[in-house]
Amino acid sequence: KATGDGGRTAKDRQLDGYRVSQEGTALTTDQGVRVADTDNSLSAGERGPTLLEDFHFREKITHFDHERIPERVVHARGSGAHGYFQVYEPLTDITCADFLSDPALKTPVFVRFSTVQGSRGSADTVRDVRGFATKFYTRQGVYDLVGNNMPVFPIQDGIKFPDFVHALKPEPHNEIPQAQSAHDTLWDFVQLQPETLHFIMWLMSDRAIPRSYRTMQGFGVHTFRFVNARGEGTFVKFHWKPRLGVHSLVWDEVLRLQGNDPDFNRRDLWETIERGSTPPEWELGVQLVPEENEHDFDFDLLDPTKIIPEEVVPVRPIGKMVLDRNPENFFAETEQVAFCTANIVPGIDFTNDPLLQARNFSYLDTQLIRLGGPNFPQIPINRPVAPVHNDHRDAYHQMTIHRSRTNYAPNSISGGCPGIGSHGVFQHYQERVDGHKIRRRSPSFGDHYSQATLFWNSMSGWEKEHIVAAFQFELAHVERRYIKERMVEHLGLIHPDLAGRVAAGLGLPAPAVTSVHDRSSPALSQARTAFDSIAT
Ligand code: HEM
Repeated sequence: KATGDGGRTAKDRQLDGYRVSQEGTALTTDQGVRVADTDNSLSAGERGPTLLEDFHFREKITHFDHERIPERVVHARGSGAHGYFQVYEPLTDITCADFLSDPALKTPVFVRFSTVQGSRGSADTVRDVRGFATKFYTRQGVYDLVGNNMPVFPIQDGIKFPDFVHALKPEPHNEIPQAQSAHDTLWDFVQLQPETLHFIMWLMSDRAIPRSYRTMQGFGVHTFRFVNARGEGTFVKFHWKPRLGVHSLVWDEVLRLQGNDPDFNRRDLWETIERGSTPPEWELGVQLVPEENEHDFDFDLLDPTKIIPEEVVPVRPIGKMVLDRNPENFFAETEQVAFCTANIVPGIDFTNDPLLQARNFSYLDTQLIRLGGPNFPQIPINRPVAPVHNDHRDAYHQMTIHRSRTNYAPNSISGGCPGIGSHGVFQHYQERVDGHKIRRRSPSFGDHYSQATLFWNSMSGWEKEHIVAAFQFELAHVERRYIKERMVEHLGLIHPDLAGRVAAGLGLPAPAVTSVHDRSSPALSQARTAFDSIAT
């Protein structure tokens, strides 16, 4: 069983082997040689030069000089916690995933919550998306559900991710602004790339300033696929719902907290888990769409800028996750954990969402540099609890002493792992793929406004006020007037009321576009021409 004695999981027991306590031990070098003095370097005479032969000095300084590794290119600031996941009832009719088959099984998890834009040392309470990444240490290997606290993404194709992130991050010449997303480059990108608009509505809402990680929803965003033992697929969207409900800060609190307690969300998570009485808890839910209903929607299931409205496909609760143990070392666990959408287990598979396909490449690629080469899956926090057998060898930071005399397949000398039995083997979903090579967005991805309108219409009066105020605050910081004007025109295509109120706050004329069906505005067609030239 993945679960363990006295609430300890298989992952806890695996980590035991790596834990080191230094209390009450004598000081040594990395080579285990005891040293008596770590306050004074070895010098030639009391006031003379430091001697090169002082190996303790050199080792200590060298190690310090090399302490930093690159921070994540996005989601650099994060907080992690251990816990477990338990399914409510077997889901064997729709997926053969082992961890979703047995309600008695507690699967160990490690979750990392994060902001996206800021650097490692930035404040928690900024207006931003929050990452919600979960590593399930299943008996069939590691499964990563690398989600966010918003159900939609700003772009449809991963090839735009570097552009979006460059536009979102501080401007390149002066690295300003660090905290808020209010600046010309972001809004320039948004007005030229209207597929961002649905996401931007979420970003301007209170969802972007969560009160606590404990009161935050999580979403897998993409449509994934469950696959059962007969090889039959079902489309699935994942939802995490916090037991405590969804709660946000208000903007005044955000501004004050950034000064008073930049660790506000991190501290809240840590202290709650330390107290132990009410460990943070989420329910995992799924929206399921039978394969034959793939084209029943007025949007494309492969488009990550769209939700499936819950009124159309209800969310079915399938299990719960409890986070009940803090990491023992931030760097070893929270910083070195490496999530990847391509880490899937039998019973779960991808779809052709072009954003997901890009992610499947990007995470492993970036971790090769961030964590120093291909052996990072051997770092304790990343190690599966399932056994690992293969012929991967050598490379930087190899931690395993492989005892086999062979490291190739097939081999007739020491036997080999591939091909021994087929039980529990990952089988790629048998999707038929056909088509000419093409570099063009599917027309089924073309409606960038309807779900933004749906979002606006679903808001209460005070939620709308907060959204209008957020747009006003953000766009007031934009220097170029034409960017503000085009933004207001886009908002007019979402809802004239939204556009009118934002325009009034910015001292701009009411937008020329007053109906979602009116896309003839000169400014917008200029923007769209620029967009189309990118998209085709
Ligand atoms: C990191 C979510 C799209 C590239 C992350 C993390 C999360 C996340 C939660 C932080 C993981 C952690 O805590 O360590 C998402 C979601 C996306 C999305 C939900 C869309 C639905 C993309 C795309 C790309 C990308 C399209 C690139 C094509 C990265 C990279 C990192 C990252 C490079 C840093 C990973 C590391 O250094 O370990 N993302 N992301 N993401 N994401 Fe994404």
